[in-house]
Amino acid sequence: MTSELTTQEGVTKAELFAGLSAQLRSLLESERDFIANAANLSSLLFYSLPDLNWSGLYILRGEELVLGPFQGKPACVRIPLSQGVCGAAANRQQTIIVDNVHDFPGHIACDSASNSEIVVPIVSEGRLIGVLDLDSPSFSRFDDDDARGLNELVEIFVASTSFES
Ligand code: SME
Repeated sequence: MTSELTTQEGVTKAELFAGLSAQLRSLLESERDFIANAANLSSLLFYSLPDLNWSGLYILRGEELVLGPFQGKPACVRIPLSQGVCGAAANRQQTIIVDNVHDFPGHIACDSASNSEIVVPIVSEGRLIGVLDLDSPSFSRFDDDDARGLNELVEIFVASTSFES
């Protein structure tokens, strides 16, 4: 799938993500609080992107990822860096797209409805902050256009947020 293909609403993915970037900038422009901005990022994605059943953040705490603000069903709270799609994306500091989560070694199933997943690392000034995780009930829901768009949104989030605790 490329950005030339249209979504159900007749909007290209490129247009969809351009609109989301503008909305996120506007949502975060007067706020730098980590929890508030993470909550609005996960909500914006959950209610704007089609075909998701979960959207949220895991935050690096020591050697594990801890559940942060999210939309969707209750999820696993702690993920060691050695486990799951989230752990792999955090370890590699690389976006990971999984077309079929049931084929991913070590995938952690929080919601049995999930069939595909994308995880984007969140890095600020070279420091790993956590990951952004999206799940879908459809197989092969995410592609390189989603990866590009989500990475741009994560860059806006990082630039708009204070991570000192
Ligand atoms: N599936 C993830 C765990 C988090 S849930 O999808 C919300 C993983 O394998 O890391």
